[in-house]
Amino acid sequence: MRIEIPREFERLGAVRIYGLQKVYELDSGPEEAPTSARDDAVVRSLPAEAIYEVQREMAIVVPVRSERLKLIEGVLVGIPNPCLVIVVSNSPREPIDRHFLELESITNFCRFTRKQVLIVHQKDPVIAAAFAAGGFTDVLGKDSLVRDGKAEGMMMGTVLARILGRRYVGFVDSDNYFPGAVNEYVREYAAGFLIHGGDHTVVRISWHSKPKIVEQALYFAKWGRSSRRCNRALNQLLSHFTGFETEIVKTGNSGEHAMTVELAMSMRYATGFAVEPYHYIDLLEQYGGVIPTEHGDMRRLVRICQIESRNPHLHADKGDAHVADMIVGSLATIYHSRLCPVWLQQEIDAELRQGGYLKEGDTLKPIRLYPSLAGLNLEQFGAAAQSVVDRRVGASPASTGVVA
Ligand code: GDD
Repeated sequence: MRIEIPREFERLGAVRIYGLQKVYELDSGPEEAPTSARDDAVVRSLPAEAIYEVQREMAIVVPVRSERLKLIEGVLVGIPNPCLVIVVSNSPREPIDRHFLELESITNFCRFTRKQVLIVHQKDPVIAAAFAAGGFTDVLGKDSLVRDGKAEGMMMGTVLARILGRRYVGFVDSDNYFPGAVNEYVREYAAGFLIHGGDHTVVRISWHSKPKIVEQALYFAKWGRSSRRCNRALNQLLSHFTGFETEIVKTGNSGEHAMTVELAMSMRYATGFAVEPYHYIDLLEQYGGVIPTEHGDMRRLVRICQIESRNPHLHADKGDAHVADMIVGSLATIYHSRLCPVWLQQEIDAELRQGGYLKEGDTLKPIRLYPSLAGLNLEQFGAAAQSVVDRRVGASPASTGVVA
């Protein structure tokens, strides 16, 4: 892959947010001779072998809730073979067992591809018992099972990636129509880790475009309604502390992102679709050096790298109410941050009222937050979840089937 080296970054304490990096070639060929690498180069060529090496250490978590089987299969087609895939499904089991259909379809797919896939259901009582055994009950609901939500599925996937010894964890939504786009995202995750290195690195994808039909013609929109608002508010927050207006944040809502497992295990999570913007908030709160936290050591650099993908992103359209939830959820994380100044709170409040997202008399409710997974006893979790972890398909000749 040939990719631009970031030219700028904004810094707050130990957090560095790098400017958007453009991709110039999805495949730039094998390793170039050392003489061709120049100090003043503005682009870098990352050989396919190096990208594969990173992918071998990567788990890709695919959250699923009632998506079409053809879409899920397309996503799996796009994930490079060296990655371990962890499908976390919250699809209903009653009155029609949709999860069974997913298991059957994915198992069949893995027979042809020899892909390593672990398929778990979010409501699997074994996983819930493992969280309880590990002393992390926050994620469990009144029924003692893991709560609904994409964020909760991501947390499950992260812990499983950790148990299975992966160094990096990436997330790819299961409702993506283009396997080629998925393939590109995962390659870009690896590229980001190769360029930035470090144990506390995040790679976030900014979609090149999201095609829509406007007046019977294809229109390649760049920013969605939610991402535009969320990015602006995060940039305003940053500008407030640096004193310099910035537009550096382009990936506030980015569902497609990856992190080192070490960082993913040390971060707090917000529920639902506030999960992605909250990553920014949590990192700025924990490592921004503005408010006192347990991470006072500013030498521990946290790097947020943003890469602009080339494929258009086409995913299932879930309707206006869903977008409204995302807008409210993402802005609520910023509004309720301990870092948010009063003037920005007032601006967010006014914007939500003007857009009709907050009605007269309503106040913006805080989003439920989970403590970091560092509080989970991994040994206890691993022991209790062993039977689930052993269900990997394609992992070894001994385990080629899936147990429902
Ligand atoms: N495991 C699990 N559990 N997965 C879920 C759940 C759940 O409760 N709810 C939704 N998912 C899965 C969906 O099946 C899909 O693969 C993915 O999570 C994203 O959910 P969508 O409902 O399709 O969200 P979206 O496509 O509108 O929004 C996506 O893009 C946004 C950026 O524009 C999400 O990734 C957002 O988080 C992101 O901010």
